Amino acid sequence: PTASVSLHTGRTISDISPLIFGGFAEHMGRCIYEGIYDPASPLADERGFRPDVMQALKEIQFRIMRYPGGNFVSGYRWQDGIGPKEKRPRRRALAWRSTETNQFGLHEFMEFAQELNTLPMWAVNLGTGTIQEAADLVEYMNLPTGTYFSDLRASNGHADPYGVKYWCLGNEMDGPWQIGHMDAATYADKAVEAAKLMRWTDPSIKLIACGSSNTGMPTYPDWDRTVLERTGDHIDYFSMHYYVGNPSMGAGEIPDTDSYLASSVQFESHTDTIAAAIRLAKAKNRSKKDVFLCWDEWNVWYRETGGDGNWSEAPHILEEVYNLEDALVVAQWLSTFLRKADVIKVACIAQIVNVIAPIMTNSNAMFRQTIFYPLALFSNHAAGQALDVLVKAPLRETKLYGDVPQLDASASFDAQTGRGALFLVNRSQTEALDVTLTWDDTAPQSFTQGWQMSGSDPKAANSFATPDAVTTHEIDLPKLDGNRATLTLPPLSFTTLLSQH
Ligand code: AHR
Repeated sequence: PTASVSLHTGRTISDISPLIFGGFAEHMGRCIYEGIYDPASPLADERGFRPDVMQALKEIQFRIMRYPGGNFVSGYRWQDGIGPKEKRPRRRALAWRSTETNQFGLHEFMEFAQELNTLPMWAVNLGTGTIQEAADLVEYMNLPTGTYFSDLRASNGHADPYGVKYWCLGNEMDGPWQIGHMDAATYADKAVEAAKLMRWTDPSIKLIACGSSNTGMPTYPDWDRTVLERTGDHIDYFSMHYYVGNPSMGAGEIPDTDSYLASSVQFESHTDTIAAAIRLAKAKNRSKKDVFLCWDEWNVWYRETGGDGNWSEAPHILEEVYNLEDALVVAQWLSTFLRKADVIKVACIAQIVNVIAPIMTNSNAMFRQTIFYPLALFSNHAAGQALDVLVKAPLRETKLYGDVPQLDASASFDAQTGRGALFLVNRSQTEALDVTLTWDDTAPQSFTQGWQMSGSDPKAANSFATPDAVTTHEIDLPKLDGNRATLTLPPLSFTTLLSQH
């Protein structure tokens, strides 16, 4: 079969917000403890950070990092995580039935974020937490010394304000599993009151309200509409969460790789629904304020669903091992972010180490999971503007989504550097695809680099023993013939192609 991809560097969707390449670090399982903070490891530095883990995280180039939860945050007292470590309380973390030592807290996270060169995105506790505690945290983080909490920060070794800009107003408050779960109107009213106090403390902050936890919630999408109508003028972003699987978690379906490999249909329709709710609320409120989407939890998650930590420290929970088909779905998710670049301005993969993560560690080693590679390639090369790519590809029938094109594509072009990037997934498990690329305006001067991930076994995965079983390799660059080039995409493949214009 054949397909065509037409590009025009002037046919753009929007600027690509670099913040769509974000991560999420929650106090759960082995994400923080034994993940990014592992003082007992022989590999750890004097701060307890692992240089090997840091290096791999830097390769992804996360631009923003959500913290400290997740479900964890809805029972978290932020003051537990400041001050001398030996005085910090051990607590039961009810969300994941774990024991929290608080040896890693606010200042340790800020040091971690600084080292990674990533912006912190802090979630406040709107479950058991009060609006006053949320405002106190903003004061601690962002105000110059001279008041109680800013002076407390200075006494804990950081006189300069941190200037944290991005703040989540709680987490998944629509979920009955959430500590302090509420209905939409009650949440929205609390979020507005928190927003007021937080902004009065620091008017420069950006606020993110909770959207639905997933599209399967009985309250979806009414939750989203109600919260947007009530909070719209007080927030800057609206959060989306979604996890996908083969089969999807709790759905009771049988595995179906053809449907799974068409998952971007679901990602796009979810985005369209919430973007429509934003527009509806804006019109209803006669508002002039634009709210953008912050997809601050997204990933493949369906195998390791047991969240019971049995009251231990750093329990081994949610440690998904990712395979080739998962990486192809992650690539489509990132392409969706480019195709929806006009509305999606922030996104955070959940999570970054060990817990549903691109990096897996034990105390002596780490390996990059399959999903690491599309993340790093998009984050390092999608820049400038997202292009509106015209794709013509054979349709393939899927049980979940009907007819879906065999090819999933997205592209970026940076007018300042003249660099283009093209991201292609051949969804077929059996058929190669001959693709003709055409530039309708200026043809590239050259292709500069290309990578591909492919294989015959969709379930192939990496492990400590075989860390490089599924990775990307550099490909021979296609030849340019005027404004055209052709390349063959193997079945089950993800290809990245860079061009210079
Ligand atoms: O990322 C794991 C969990 O998934 C988060 O704590 C929660 O917000 C979501 O349900």
